[in-house]
Amino acid sequence: MLGNDVVDLRDPESDPESFRPRFDERVFAEEERREIAHDPRPLARRWAHWAAKEAAYKLARRLDPGFVFSPRTLVARFDPLSEAATRGPGVVERRGRLELPRTVGPEISTLELRSTESAACVHVVALPGGFDWGAVDVGVARIDPAREDAGRVARALAITDVARSLGVAAERLAIAKVGRVPVVELDGERTSLVLSLSHHGAWVAFACAPGPARTGRVRGEAAAERTPGVASSGGWRPVRDGPRKDAAGGRRAAPDWRTSTGGTA
Ligand SMILES: CC(C)(COP(=O)(O)OP(=O)(O)OC[C@H]1O[C@@H](n2cnc3c(N)ncnc32)[C@H](O)[C@@H]1OP(=O)(O)O)[C@@H](O)C(=O)NCCC(=O)NCCS
Repeated sequence: MLGNDVVDLRDPESDPESFRPRFDERVFAEEERREIAHDPRPLARRWAHWAAKEAAYKLARRLDPGFVFSPRTLVARFDPLSEAATRGPGVVERRGRLELPRTVGPEISTLELRSTESAACVHVVALPGGFDWGAVDVGVARIDPAREDAGRVARALAITDVARSLGVAAERLAIAKVGRVPVVELDGERTSLVLSLSHHGAWVAFACAPGPARTGRVRGEAAAERTPGVASSGGWRPVRDGPRKDAAGGRRAAPDWRTSTGGTA
């Protein structure tokens, strides 16, 4: 199980000047507002908290369709940034935790968070506590939103990288939807991979990890729905370079920066 969320820091929506009065009071717990105010990078910090809540919500909703989004009760707690947090020129990673207000799924209550942040965007991945981060594929890419369909590019990015990790041709993979939740198919059969997609402004992202083995459809679950034309990565071209492996040969992918997500160091 996992969730991810990306925020474009240069989108006008992300500018604190554009917030409605009391937005912060409504969505952030008091301790989060204090941490944001004292952070040397308050804009990135604010949106890291928000993205953590959205990522946690996406994770929780997969396990419990009745899970209600109540942002103030999803409190993200990040460790202080240290030298070790630098992941490349202008890119840092914060690590943290989020306690779900109640246990969801197979007794999941504590989530681990990794927030990768540049001056342009914040990307948060949430995993259940103790999950192997080295098993997670992550990709973040910049697009031209005036010319490209963000949902399509996010799917193509995920397919390209997951195919590489699995060692299969990208054409054999497809992304379908069950309700609004994306599922990965291999040769038309649903896999147990857990995929989370996100797009905002000029950024798209995904995170994907092995999930519990499953076959067939959960009782009461809708049939997978395929959107023509978005299932394969054919024809997609990232604005910058394509996904790539990290230097250590890990399974992460980061076209626009070398994300630190993945590995246990
Ligand atoms: C579902 C939700 C988390 C999506 O987040 P978002 O920031 O709007 O959009 P993102 O681009 O990050 O994520 C969209 C992707 O999430 C996935 N998604 C949608 N619903 C989902 C769900 N219930 N569970 C898991 N993933 C879901 C889909 O893959 C979707 O991609 P698509 O639109 O290309 O199919 C969001 O719409 C939501 O309902 N949030 C809770 C309510 C809320 O935010 N209220 C604001 C009041 S303060």
